Amino acid sequence: MKIKNICCIGAGYVGGPTMAVIAQKCPEINVTVVDINEKRIAAWNDENVENIPIYEPGLSKVVEEARDRNLFFSTDVDKAIDQADMIFISVNTPTKTYGMGKGMAADLKFIELCARQIARVSTSDKIVIEKSTLPVRTAEALKNILENTGNGVSFQILSNPEFLAEGTAVEDLMQPDRVLIGGDIDTEKGKEAVQALVDVYAHWVPKEQILTTNVWSSELSKLTANAFLAQRVSSINAMSELCEKTGADVNEVAKAVGMDSRIGPKFLKSSVGFGGSCFQKDILNLVYIAKSFGLNEVADYWEQVITMNDHQKKRFALNIVRTLFNTVSGKKIALLGWAFKKDTNDTRESAAIYVSDYLLNEQADIVIYDPKVTEEQIYADLNYLGTRSEEENIARVTVLSNPYEVCENAHAIAVLTEWDEFKDYDWQRIYDGMLKPAFLFDGRQLLNRKKKEDIGFEFYAIG
Ligand code: UDX
Ligand code: ADP
Repeated sequence: MKIKNICCIGAGYVGGPTMAVIAQKCPEINVTVVDINEKRIAAWNDENVENIPIYEPGLSKVVEEARDRNLFFSTDVDKAIDQADMIFISVNTPTKTYGMGKGMAADLKFIELCARQIARVSTSDKIVIEKSTLPVRTAEALKNILENTGNGVSFQILSNPEFLAEGTAVEDLMQPDRVLIGGDIDTEKGKEAVQALVDVYAHWVPKEQILTTNVWSSELSKLTANAFLAQRVSSINAMSELCEKTGADVNEVAKAVGMDSRIGPKFLKSSVGFGGSCFQKDILNLVYIAKSFGLNEVADYWEQVITMNDHQKKRFALNIVRTLFNTVSGKKIALLGWAFKKDTNDTRESAAIYVSDYLLNEQADIVIYDPKVTEEQIYADLNYLGTRSEEENIARVTVLSNPYEVCENAHAIAVLTEWDEFKDYDWQRIYDGMLKPAFLFDGRQLLNRKKKEDIGFEFYAIG
């Protein structure tokens, strides 16, 4: 089966970059990315490719090359679905905020809406691919909806989880460790569908790196990979607290441990806590699934990864309060960084949000600088917590576009994202402009302790 037209529903952090790379690598396939969010689609179509809605190193260039050649962004969802042989579903699957499974299960309403729309619109056979991270057995639900409400056309459901990390999305897509495709490999039709998707990736990914499995293994592998990665971060963060008490240095410990080839060096960087749209959501999902099968020990085991992460964020904020003589009320605290990691403008589940929330509860005045996150987004993140009114957030929080101004007259600075540019600031100038003692809290192990202490900072780093 030769694929000519691909449609992707959802022009977000997953759908946008993935489709841009597929279009660039497969010039003979037309790729249309659709979204109900008109503003987002308009930004993807902005004449100036630097204005696309997602900041990812290298992405603008890929979009520039493929857009209007075989890569299109549109709000006409029905038309793109009807024309496609292959449909990727890349819509958001946030944690449920209501009802059964509240705070744990993934909210599948957007997925279900997509399935119903595909069923309603389709007039020819289609391969439907789950790209969003989903709980195990979602494919079955999709299949049910498609088969029972369709127009007699046939659908093959595949799972093709995305492993890209934000900030390195283009690199991860161009040279993936592996591509995972789950399908109904026991039937001819299923095998054909899997092969069609293998052929798309085979344009640039070596065959031995394309794994095919049954659908359930594929769905569960994605959750497992994210749970393992998050677990490593929580493990090293747990050690960071112990290091602070014992005089060990967490970086030295991580290095020594990571040189064991059985353990490896990656994801052992201690921090103020992991964020991002995946780790917490996927673990909660895993916990929910385990509980629903009565596997309480399994559920408790994974839940602890999140408990540790929450503790790390809180511990960092409380340390600021304690160090500033047990009160930050009315004090100006400068925050450098709001994104959940460097090289992205994504703020979902960013540790900065929770650290701010703790400090605001202590009546601090917060001033924030992030090189890529907008003021609008920062207020939206704080308002979403619902801890205090929007007016209070506006009164207590200021967002500025100049880092030196942010630090001017501050009692303390906290580094919450590891943006490279923070390392190169004129720290003497920053010190001179601050109230003394000038406290500097490094939540990312980013800055050089010795140099900062030589300038005169009271320096605190995790671990
Ligand atoms: C993650 C997975 O890596 C990716 O495969 C999956 O597709 C989506 O979820 P992402 O959330 O984009 O990707 O970023 P990642 O690099 O995994 O970082 C997640 C969080 O962990 C960030 O807040 C990061 O700062 C933190 N982290 C990561 C650490 O604190 N220490 C580390 O050593 C690594
Ligand atoms: P992710 O990180 O998974 O890509 P995002 O929130 O960045 O998540 O992107 C998901 C996108 O999916 C959003 O832009 C949202 O508007 C879009 N979306 C959600 N439901 C639908 C739908 N039924 N049809 C089209 N687009 C949708």
